[in-house]
Amino acid sequence: MALKITVIGTGYLGATHAAAMAELGFEVMGLDVVPEKIDKLRRGEVPMYEPGLEELLRRHVAGIEGSTGRLRFTMDWAELGDFGDVHFVCVNTPQRHGEYACDMSYVDSAIASLAPHLKGPALVVGKSTVPVGSADRLAAYLAEHAPAGADAELAWNPEFLREGFAVQDTLHPDRIVVGVRSERSEKLLREVYATPVEEGSPFVVTDFPTAELVKTSANSFLATKISFINAMAELCEATGGDVAKLAEAIGYDDRIGRKFLRAGIGFGGGCLPKDIRAFMARAGELGADQALTFLREIDSINMRQRGRMVELTRQELGGGPFLGKRVAVLGATFKPDSDDVRDSPALNVAGQIHLQGGQVTVYDPKGMDNARSLFPTLGYADSALEAVRGAHVVLHLTEWREFRELDPAELGEAAAERVVLDGRNALDAEAWRRAGWRFRAMGRPGA
Ligand code: UDX
Repeated sequence: MALKITVIGTGYLGATHAAAMAELGFEVMGLDVVPEKIDKLRRGEVPMYEPGLEELLRRHVAGIEGSTGRLRFTMDWAELGDFGDVHFVCVNTPQRHGEYACDMSYVDSAIASLAPHLKGPALVVGKSTVPVGSADRLAAYLAEHAPAGADAELAWNPEFLREGFAVQDTLHPDRIVVGVRSERSEKLLREVYATPVEEGSPFVVTDFPTAELVKTSANSFLATKISFINAMAELCEATGGDVAKLAEAIGYDDRIGRKFLRAGIGFGGGCLPKDIRAFMARAGELGADQALTFLREIDSINMRQRGRMVELTRQELGGGPFLGKRVAVLGATFKPDSDDVRDSPALNVAGQIHLQGGQVTVYDPKGMDNARSLFPTLGYADSALEAVRGAHVVLHLTEWREFRELDPAELGEAAAERVVLDGRNALDAEAWRRAGWRFRAMGRPGA
């Protein structure tokens, strides 16, 4: 009989995973402890903007016309425990308030709520990003508290999905990593992922700590690449070099690669910043903090870029205070194709200028509601053109396609001064210059 799958936690990761599992043909039950989330999902609505996710969900949620009916939602742990053979834990692990370490309370409480309902053989699969060593601890907890005892096994299967590509990354992962302790667990996970494996996704089998470390080390590597190129941007500015050319040239070396070498205001979001901090905190607990001291530097190079953008803006406005200056900010989300503003470099820059007396007007294609609730005192406009109207300087801070397609001549008519700063190295400098704009980008020469 086909496996039955449950997904605990229906945020970014869980909602996508649940819909993807239904797409792969499994019967799926999703659980969340927030009633509003469950109500929305039952109606086929996604609580965030993610391309393709709502369509995928609507194709499978029971009760929606024309759906396969393979995906259902519940708030009842007993129902979930009875239903599933394989239980995926997809709750979030945010940074602890006032600390670097990650907050495991949602994972711990999910496992504690599930355990008493595991009466027969079951596999619990952790997907959340956790400090190395957690899987060991949780496996022992399950064996002790589940009525099934040792038949309630644990596996760790980190998730690498990127926001904006969540559906594609989940259905066609570039690798599947499973930390397992038994042949039975491996076999079950091979069954779950049979379709992507047949399509060619590599299936990497490891022990628990390696699986946990794969995730945090992958994110640390990506963060390092970005901060590396931003450090080179600082050197380019000091020497008159061009970081975009430099990135292109070093990127042709296959060993380096061209991806994730776009200099600018740096990384943000719900993952990279908190993951590298939690990794440092965990290394400290393990007595291996020296191994990760470089991540402290990666973090500080990254945070420094936001301040550099503010200073570049100040320079372009004549060097004095921001008082009386109108600043248009294009972009609020931490990356394009997402409405996520968590730790967004764009909003951080906008906020700093605002707090220093600048009159900031923000426009973002999808992130307006989230930006408004996080930063209600900023000005907001309904379009890029409206944001730019009357501005003394325009800051491009999130690289949405919509901004690359803007007509610099039309914007030039609306702006008070034709000065644009590209904080993402993504605009066509020549096109803007031709339209009479003074164009500056981080790590690149001249106006
Ligand atoms: C990241 C990982 O990529 C993903 O594998 C993991 O599962 C979760 O964390 P995500 O948070 O969606 O995914 O963002 P990502 O695409 O990695 O971008 C992170 C930040 O880096 C963004 O703010 C982006 O603008 C910035 N970035 C990215 C750069 O500044 N330069 C680059 O060259 C690439």
